[in-house]
Amino acid sequence: MTQRPTDNPLQETVPMPGSATSPTATSAWAELQDMAHATARAAVVEHFHADSQRAERYSLRCDELLLDYSKNRIDDAVLSALLRLAREMALPDKIRALFVGAAVNTTEKRPALHMALRGSATLPAEQQHLLNSAIDSQHEKTRIVSEQIRTGQWRGLTGKAITDVINIGIGGSDLGPKMVCTALREFAHPVIRCHFVANVDGAEIQRMLRRLDPETTLVIIASKSFTTHETRLNAETTLDWFREKLGIDAPQSSSHFIAVTENSREALAFGIDPQRIFQLWDWIGGRYSLWSSIGLSIAIAIGYDNFRQLLAGAKRMDEHFLYAPLEQNMPVILALLGIWYRNFLKAETHAVIPYCERLGHFITYLQQLDMESSGKSVSAAGDAIDYPTGTIVWGQTGTNGQHTFLQLIHQGSHLIPVDFIGFIEDSLSTPRHHQALMTHLLAQSAALMVGTTGALPSYRHQPGNRPSNTLLIQKLTPFNLGMLIALYEHKVYSQGVIWNINSFDQWGVELGKVIAGQLLADRADNSAALDPSTRRLLGLISGSDS
Ligand code: F6P
Repeated sequence: MTQRPTDNPLQETVPMPGSATSPTATSAWAELQDMAHATARAAVVEHFHADSQRAERYSLRCDELLLDYSKNRIDDAVLSALLRLAREMALPDKIRALFVGAAVNTTEKRPALHMALRGSATLPAEQQHLLNSAIDSQHEKTRIVSEQIRTGQWRGLTGKAITDVINIGIGGSDLGPKMVCTALREFAHPVIRCHFVANVDGAEIQRMLRRLDPETTLVIIASKSFTTHETRLNAETTLDWFREKLGIDAPQSSSHFIAVTENSREALAFGIDPQRIFQLWDWIGGRYSLWSSIGLSIAIAIGYDNFRQLLAGAKRMDEHFLYAPLEQNMPVILALLGIWYRNFLKAETHAVIPYCERLGHFITYLQQLDMESSGKSVSAAGDAIDYPTGTIVWGQTGTNGQHTFLQLIHQGSHLIPVDFIGFIEDSLSTPRHHQALMTHLLAQSAALMVGTTGALPSYRHQPGNRPSNTLLIQKLTPFNLGMLIALYEHKVYSQGVIWNINSFDQWGVELGKVIAGQLLADRADNSAALDPSTRRLLGLISGSDS
């Protein structure tokens, strides 16, 4: 259980507006089921022949981000039925509810206000004021501390400036900052390196510590709950390393340690100096937290002004999501396409292929965002649901994916919609390489759609009609990355509204934590309660069985 801080500015929340019902009870659902048979089988290339404007009509732009969704198995009738489904499920009301701070997280009875961190929540004036001052104070602390570290004013115990920052956290306390720091390395500080430790695999942390100098290393313990086992153990191992190398008693109370948490009581008990604790709140979900002080490592890596640019880009997408009509609303269109494939064309997975190596961590980031949010089998009201929810998100950067899994997408028996992501310019690359990279992106999306024609042996035949979106972005800047991340955040929320699920809890990860906790507490005592397979494996690992 996480503790509620007393200075939480959001004690009162607006209830979530009443939901329609099950999406399967809407009239649009039945229409879409009928359409699935005919439209899904129609060749997308034929739609292009019939409509010379299709590429333009099925494209949306938000500043430097263009979504081309023309290569999907849809026509105007499907699109308008999907939009009707969104309206029947009250999506416009639910979008406003999200921004106004309604308790969209129904099981934990709280709002999800990550948009407030980028200045785009629309709460009643008094609440907004309280919220803004809480957020501003933490952002200001991020600015001051990141600048002190970047300029060498922040000193370690022996008076040396910081050269290495270790972010110890897992899930949302790791994936967002790691993904952003990797993606935006063009903007990185020339000397300071940021490292990310998440897994409890000791070989990894030991390997990293061996390469670092404790005198110039700063540790950020990033944990909303401050109780996550992996993070605690990695933090303790790092403490031992400081103790041993610097010969001091309580390194955690020194300038080598910062904590970012909602649970300041636990951070204090761990010995972190109160001045070096950054505050989180319960209305920021772990997987939505990179915009908060969890983004401290980002601000250290790319500078606070660039961190603000990231937030500004997300704000731009928030405004688009909040105000654009549904039919021109990029997150909504992506969500509806996802629903079309998942619920009507029965696709179980969705591949994301960024043609940019720096976006390698983006897929893992999206996996948590999407699968932790949408992996649910009960409605927001707690009733069992009888339609599929959630999509398995996976992928790899291009062109590497072309030499691993794309064969299956081209010729296999699964239907796997793809999001291709590419950049028009890349100042870190050379014109020759970048042109080659983008040519491959276009070749893949075209090949998936058109397939092969003419007389070919069957094993060479590519059926085509395999759907994809292309997100074409001018450059990989902090602003554009902010837009891209917020685009997927809002896509995930929109899908959750249509599925009538709570996108903001993750109770499914609890049981494994409980069993691990029991086993760690006392292996022998607890083994009797285990199932026979797990008991035997435990015996083999602990050496009591052979
Ligand atoms: O994986 C479960 C989870 O609770 C995520 O939602 C969260 O991002 C992660 O663990 C880390 O939690 P914490 O920040 O509290 O350490």
